[in-house]
Amino acid sequence: MASNAGKRPKVFVTRKDVPQNAIDLLKSSCEIIQYDGVGAVPRAVLKERVAEVDGLFCLLTDKIDGDLLDVAKKLKVVGTMSVGYDHIDVKECQKRGVLLGNTPDVLTEATAELTVALLLCTARRLTEAADEVRNGGWGTWNPLWMCGKSLQGSTIGILGLGRIGLSVAKKLLPFEPAKLIYYNRSEQDAAATVNAEYVSMDKLLSESDFLIITCALTTETRQLFNKKTFAQMKNDAILINTSRGPIVSMDDLFEALSTGQIGAAGLDVTDPEPLPTDHRLLTLKNCVVLPHIGSATVATRMRMASLAAENILAGLSGQPLPASIY
Ligand code: DGY
Repeated sequence: MASNAGKRPKVFVTRKDVPQNAIDLLKSSCEIIQYDGVGAVPRAVLKERVAEVDGLFCLLTDKIDGDLLDVAKKLKVVGTMSVGYDHIDVKECQKRGVLLGNTPDVLTEATAELTVALLLCTARRLTEAADEVRNGGWGTWNPLWMCGKSLQGSTIGILGLGRIGLSVAKKLLPFEPAKLIYYNRSEQDAAATVNAEYVSMDKLLSESDFLIITCALTTETRQLFNKKTFAQMKNDAILINTSRGPIVSMDDLFEALSTGQIGAAGLDVTDPEPLPTDHRLLTLKNCVVLPHIGSATVATRMRMASLAAENILAGLSGQPLPASIY
């Protein structure tokens, strides 16, 4: 463990590779204890460290639940370097008066860009085609070889028209889809800005040529895409998930893709993560899998890190959090 001494509030940073701008910011008024092992902090270390600190800088790989909070007697604030907070038991934090901040807005554009890239990559079979170039599969020009599906004239469905869903919709409009439809817990006023029609979940499933998941992982959305919902989709529908892996049943997705129940899938998130290299989804040509890189631009990750740090500093000094979860 690396630590700098002092009487200032203590903050535990759960990962070694956190952008330095956030570390510098925290160091300006706190004592930092930073996990310096490889990868995610082991649960036992997290428990030990959280017991002695006032602030916690965590990532989406750290489970913050009642069991952990029980030992975190001094903890005042948690700042997660992520917009998603399904790894945090919000009720347990609230019950104990532990403040919680996340990093909305700053990653919207990067994540929406990646969503569009993954959609195009899956629809036009880019990884599969590039593989053919390398493995000698590129023969003479062939009328129907490597044909995919165009966005123009299609119906694009978005599940979750929040910040990221809306930005994806905006970025897709120039591709001239015939229709944008969306399903959300409630109708969104902003939908008018992208001319998106609010539809039922059933209609979203049955009418989308491309179905993009940009909703949060909740008890309602966990495993929402399963055998039953895949059966409602078009046989050539393309599913894109850049939200959270457990929204889609990996087993049912494999069945749907390998039996032609749906056309293709592009996943930036899986269940589990990382997806084991021998996972059967990776044997399918009609499934593109990326390693959870939606927000992975240097500038975005730096901004996420500094916002997480700002949340912690605000919480420790009794100020409102710049991005508070509750
Ligand atoms: C998040 O922030 O929740 C993303 O999944 C990673 O950037």
